[in-house]
Amino acid sequence: VSSRIRPSHAEIRLSNLIHNYRYLRDLVKNHNFVCPMLKANAYGHGDIECARALSQVGVHDFGVVLIEEGIRLREEGINGTILVFAGFDREAAGEVIKYNLTPVVSTLDDLKELAEQVPAGTSHRVHLKFNTGMNRLGFSEEEIPNLLRFFKESTKLQLAGICTHLFQAEDSFDPKGNTQIQLQKFEKISGNFESGAIVRHVLSSSAVCSQKFSGLGARPGIALYGARPALNKDIQLNLLPVMSIKSRVELTQKVKKHETVSYGGTWTAKQNSLIGVVPFGYADGYPRSASNKSFMIVKGRRVPVVGTVCMDYTMVDLTGVPYAEAGAEVVLLGQQDEESYFVEDLAAASGTISYEILTRISSRVPRIYSHEAV
Ligand SMILES: Cc1ncc(COP(=O)(O)O)c(C=O)c1O
Repeated sequence: VSSRIRPSHAEIRLSNLIHNYRYLRDLVKNHNFVCPMLKANAYGHGDIECARALSQVGVHDFGVVLIEEGIRLREEGINGTILVFAGFDREAAGEVIKYNLTPVVSTLDDLKELAEQVPAGTSHRVHLKFNTGMNRLGFSEEEIPNLLRFFKESTKLQLAGICTHLFQAEDSFDPKGNTQIQLQKFEKISGNFESGAIVRHVLSSSAVCSQKFSGLGARPGIALYGARPALNKDIQLNLLPVMSIKSRVELTQKVKKHETVSYGGTWTAKQNSLIGVVPFGYADGYPRSASNKSFMIVKGRRVPVVGTVCMDYTMVDLTGVPYAEAGAEVVLLGQQDEESYFVEDLAAASGTISYEILTRISSRVPRIYSHEAV
């Protein structure tokens, strides 16, 4: 199917991805492990295309969550280390080995399952994840003696890295904050493992951008895609948005004063109005909670979304916008002339976070890739 049949599409600027990667890499002090997180289809940007672009500039570590995501990358020719964060069963352990994925393991059962299947005479590299407060995945500190024993006895698995995940990295500046507590715990845990051969990675986008930490590897996600991570507003960042979303006004409707627009009649015209119908709805990933709250850009002006966002369509108020007519370009995310509306704006308007908006841009929205800078 041609990606140009429908006018709605996401433009993905890979040059901005590379800019953001280099920028973040330079913020990571005294550590050369900077592993782009490509999970969830690279936060909606296309994992294969992003992996290829990053590989071309020398990146060799990638992070995904699902084994399926890792297999996809391998099948598309991505070499290098692919960290997978999900747990697995017997069958999946076989896939981990077959596709040479590097699991970030959180349970002793997973380690045993894997070790059993590693072919004789070979070994498989693994990382360990420790729970320092997120209380989602990861070994507890108490399990360290068992782990040390396991690795002493097993020749099948080679410990290549240890990590933890921060749950409130935006508090990096608080000397008594949760991040400091987590890092102290991680430091203590690290002391049990020989430091020479293993990589230690901790920092997510907020922690990298805070520039508060040194000597720890990083796994940035959201900032790589140019969305601002949760962080003190005073901190200036040089990130460029990677995804823009564009469409065209499919048709316009003249709506009389007191008439309503869309399901439920949640918006009433205060004057005779010109409504633009934009072929992009919640099935495309536009949040329904943005109804009557967010903006789009038409003819260089921010125009309000009016009425309830539908499955396939969203309406905007074009009243008073000169030359606003069917066929006019609509920018849902990004920049047009002097005006901009970014994913942070849409997230705030719809009561969510950039992560959720980006990862939910659905598969029926064609991604069009360019390498040029803005
Ligand atoms: C284990 C792990 N590391 C790193 C990241 C990247 O986080 P961020 O997108 O905030 O940089 C995530 C994402 O949630 C994650 O789950």
